[in-house]
Amino acid sequence: MALLTILAFPDDRLRKKASPVEVFDDSLKQLVGDMLETMYNAPGIGLAATQVNVHKRVIVIDVSEEKNSAVCLINPEIIEKRGVEEMEEGCLSVPGVFEKVRRAQCVRVRALDLEGNTTEFDAEGLLAVCIQHEIDHLEGHLFVDRLSPLKRQLVRKKIKKDQRHRPGKSPSHPVSSVI
Ligand code: NI
Repeated sequence: MALLTILAFPDDRLRKKASPVEVFDDSLKQLVGDMLETMYNAPGIGLAATQVNVHKRVIVIDVSEEKNSAVCLINPEIIEKRGVEEMEEGCLSVPGVFEKVRRAQCVRVRALDLEGNTTEFDAEGLLAVCIQHEIDHLEGHLFVDRLSPLKRQLVRKKIKKDQRHRPGKSPSHPVSSVI
């Protein structure tokens, strides 16, 4: 397995729309293994292939505290949404920025596993937020796109400033919300 480079906002490659996976072979398993290693190492609780410059519909997530419950979703789709929830989110591609984002509280998800079998399940809370955030990445969207224009401008300024000063990881936020 290998650590992959995570693209950072405002890289244009984060704006590409990912294509569906059609071949379930060893290279797909390798990609998922590398993405999991990269996500745990970052550290974060979710990663979309788009973020490592692979434009296929693959996401990995682990919202468990023990970091032993990896979920890998291929060609994920949200087929039903219920309720509204606002949660503070961060993103491995937008380092140091944490903002409240409004999303569906519960989602019903359809996806394929690594063998190409279809699975369908309900998710709520952090897992639901994470799945919605990662599917946005596959569409070329970032969580900062969902903020008001004024907030987005502040985020842009902060990132420019951070890039000039090159600080370490932001210590004031829990890793649990970096998706
Ligand atoms: Ni993200």
